[in-house]
Order: sequence, then C-alpha cells, then structure tokens
Amino acid sequence: METITITRAERLKQKPDPDTLEFGKVFTDHMFLMNYEAGRGWHDPRIVPYGPLMLDPSAMVLHYAQEVFEGLKAYRRPDGQIQLFRPEENGKRMINSCERMCIPPVSVENFVEAVKAIVREEKDWVPSAPDTSLYIRPFIIATEPCLGVHAALRYIFCIICSPVGAYYASGIDPVRIFVENEDVRAVRGGTGFTKCGGNYAASIRASERAEEKGFTQVLWLDGVERKYIEEVGSMNVLFKLDDKVVTPMLSGSVLPGITRRSCIELLESWDIPVEERLISAQELFDAADTGHLEEAWGSGTAAVISPIGEMDWNGRKALLNQGKTGPLTQRLYDTLTGIQWGKIPDPFGWTEIVT
Ligand code: COI
Repeated sequence: METITITRAERLKQKPDPDTLEFGKVFTDHMFLMNYEAGRGWHDPRIVPYGPLMLDPSAMVLHYAQEVFEGLKAYRRPDGQIQLFRPEENGKRMINSCERMCIPPVSVENFVEAVKAIVREEKDWVPSAPDTSLYIRPFIIATEPCLGVHAALRYIFCIICSPVGAYYASGIDPVRIFVENEDVRAVRGGTGFTKCGGNYAASIRASERAEEKGFTQVLWLDGVERKYIEEVGSMNVLFKLDDKVVTPMLSGSVLPGITRRSCIELLESWDIPVEERLISAQELFDAADTGHLEEAWGSGTAAVISPIGEMDWNGRKALLNQGKTGPLTQRLYDTLTGIQWGKIPDPFGWTEIVT
C-alpha cells in the first residue's frame, strides 16, 4: 500500500464516560479512507478527521446495496498496551464477502495495516474500564454515480471506530429467544455467508417483532425447509448437547464467525467434541424436554458470548440451565475475553499488539 497520509482534526472531541458507553453511538476523531477506481485500483490511503462522506445521490450503494463490512475490536491490556484479536481473519472474510458482491478486494495485508494505522492514531480512545473496547468498523461501499445495475467502477474503503461497552445493557445475563418461522435471513446461493448490509436489513423486521413480544433476539431457521437452525440474531449459535457441542455447519447461508471459530478451537483444545452439522429445531426442543440440551449461547465480536436462557418455538418453550448462564458458556466467555483483553496467556497466537 502507498504511504498512509494523515490529516489531523483541529479540535479533538471529549471522550465519553467509560461507565455509560453504549454500543456504536460515539465515534472517534479520525477515520481511514481509501478510494478505488477501475483501471487505477485502490489508491490514496489516508487518515482524516471523522465526518460525513460526500456521496452522489446516485451512488450505487444507496440503490443496490453493493457493500460489505467487518467488525473487530481493539482491547486495552492490563499493561496499558493495545491489542487486536485475529485481524487477519476479518481481512480474509472481507475478501470472501467482496468476491460475492463483485467488489474489488483489499488485500489482507493492507486491511490489517489500515486497521493498525487508525487504531494507532486513535489509541487514546481505547477505553480501559472492564468490558469496554474500541469497536472497529471497516466497510466498502460502491460510490459510482449510476442507476444501471452492474458492478460499480468506484468504491470507498472506510474504517470508523467507536468506543463501546457491553453489547447488551444487561451484560452476560441470559437472553430470551424467539424461533422465527416467517422471515428468513438468508438462503444458500444468496449472501448469508458474507458480511453485507443487506443481510442485516432483512433481519430487522423479525427482531422488531420479537422485541415487541418481549424477546431479545430471534433464532433463524433455514430459508428452504424452515427446519434447521442457522443463527441467533446477528450471531452464530452453539449448543451443548450432552457431552458435546453442536453448531450449524457453514452451508452458505451462515456467517463464518471468527468468535464461532475461536469457540470451536477452544472447545477442541479442552477435548470437548464439536459437531458442525444440521440441527433441526425439533431435535433441539426434544433434547431440551429430555434434559439433554444443557446450554446454548450466541457468539459474535460485539457481544463475544451471549448465553441463551429460554427459547420459544410456536409457543413451545425450552428453558436452558434453569435460565442461568451455564458453566461451559461461562468458561468460554471468561477464556475468550481473558485472551482478548490480555488478562490470560494466549497459547493460540490470536492476539497482536499494536505498537
Ligand atoms: C457482531 O457480533 O460482531 C456482529 O456482527 C454484530 C454487529 C452487526 C453489530
């Protein structure tokens, strides 16, 4: 990548109170930008003051949603240093998302360099209070002004950063989940395996309805048979069934989560077998009735591990671990967050200090 130029903000914002941080409401002083033009490639990487993007109203992203994004965090270690968690995995996933959306990819090397550059610039924004971090949101949008439906010839790669607290206001308390029978999030052959805004747009209606009914999130079923579990809310989902853990296989409509992968690798290192396979709602609720479904949790960058206390499928209820966080869920949460915040050793080499 060319040298990243830096234009600093004239006045820096006041940092928010770390105890009242919400998710994604406050943004730092600067952002990273890079442009793409067909024939020229990615060029002009720069850090500039955070602010509105100038977009033509005909910019293709606004009409046809040609867009991809990523999410990762910078963590403040107890020794004051800042670290990232598996940033290369985000870079690789963004390339896969770009390929599906016909967006010219940014190399993993340039992706990580850009993330490190903006984190270095915003290092004072990485909070140190418990459970807080700097959420990093890289995204690429099609900016070509054109109403024809085709792959755009111009794009912007942007990275913004937001100091965040726990994703759910209630912290690691178990959530209530509604099994969604009507809307689907994604289908095989579609974009479910990518991190593109359209997947999230399609999910909002079901989430709103679930919230109205008093649930925190929905459990998504597959779009073809409406039978098999796919994800929970905007997270992957894992279940402890007897002595093993099962999680939906990556069949094309499930996001290959980095926290999901890390859970699997941790569980295997603890000699707990993990099966990636089809799991029907029927199997789960039957297992809950007979006491075999012991724990369930969602995994994602934002919430890390989110225990599921109760599920509702057409009025049929499943209570998990009496509605309390289960021991394996807690162990995963403690280990993952311990490694991410640099509080315990990282035998996997997942973390990278930003110098
Ligand atoms: C994550 O868990 O990191 C997510 O993808 C959620 C995000 C869309 C807020």
